[in-house]
Amino acid sequence: MLKSSIDKATGFEKRFENIGTVVYADSTSASKSIAEEIASLIKVKQSQRQPCILGLATGSSPKGLYAELVRLHKEEGLSFKNVISFNLDEYYPMEPDSVNSYVRFMQEQLFNHVDILPENCFVPDGTLPKDKIREYCSDYEAKIEALGGIDLQILGIGGNGHIGFNESGSLQNSKTRLVALDHITRVAASGDFSGLENTPRTAITLGVKKIMEAKRVILMAWGESKSNIIKASVEDTVTSHVPASYLQEHDNATFVLDQAAASKLTRINTPWLVEKIVW
Ligand code: GLP
Repeated sequence: MLKSSIDKATGFEKRFENIGTVVYADSTSASKSIAEEIASLIKVKQSQRQPCILGLATGSSPKGLYAELVRLHKEEGLSFKNVISFNLDEYYPMEPDSVNSYVRFMQEQLFNHVDILPENCFVPDGTLPKDKIREYCSDYEAKIEALGGIDLQILGIGGNGHIGFNESGSLQNSKTRLVALDHITRVAASGDFSGLENTPRTAITLGVKKIMEAKRVILMAWGESKSNIIKASVEDTVTSHVPASYLQEHDNATFVLDQAAASKLTRINTPWLVEKIVW
């Protein structure tokens, strides 16, 4: 059913969007604007002599963002010496030097090209014995808490609405844990692993709770293939079926989209539904 509350101040029918969304012409300009926000946060924290705690994501979506952060470091002197980063997730089991490891991804995309201290880069450990994972996950959360929480969390979104590896059905108060991967997620990753049979069935992910506790959350999505799940996350009801929809309940979350990913939002797909109402 269509929502239709009217903003009395402007006369405009309220947007159908329950999360702030910013739409850019393309992912390059969108990634640049996110990099600028991160750079200013890092600098503010530097001026306060404080660490800047970043929650980082993997996947194809943040690659342009990391490239821009590397450029800001190399060409504009942005330092990452006060940055402490926590990655969202890692396949399990996974060796850090494997081609598909998120440790390797982060080193290649960002860490090796900026002056972040290696001891300040945390990525969930895919090499642990199974009986050590629970304790490891609670230590991972304790480290974040001891630093006062995540200042800014970067997210991509899975085709099924997952954030990190919090698949459909993950609870809003879920903790950092070992999870089974959705078949859809494994199929999406199977190209990287040369076939579904080689694709991991499990992963370690930061829980939804720690993501929701981040002071600022930016979710990025590019391309038409994300447009249906973006609409569901932004406009439909909050449901564990689409974990990204939990962000409707975060008071400082923004979805940064390119035009294709935004194309199913009501204001773009059927703009006449959000026209100004004449009284
Ligand atoms: C993986 C990651 C997620 C990421 C998602 C989307 O499942 N664990 O954190 O958001 O992929 O990836 P992409 O950005 O390549 O679409």
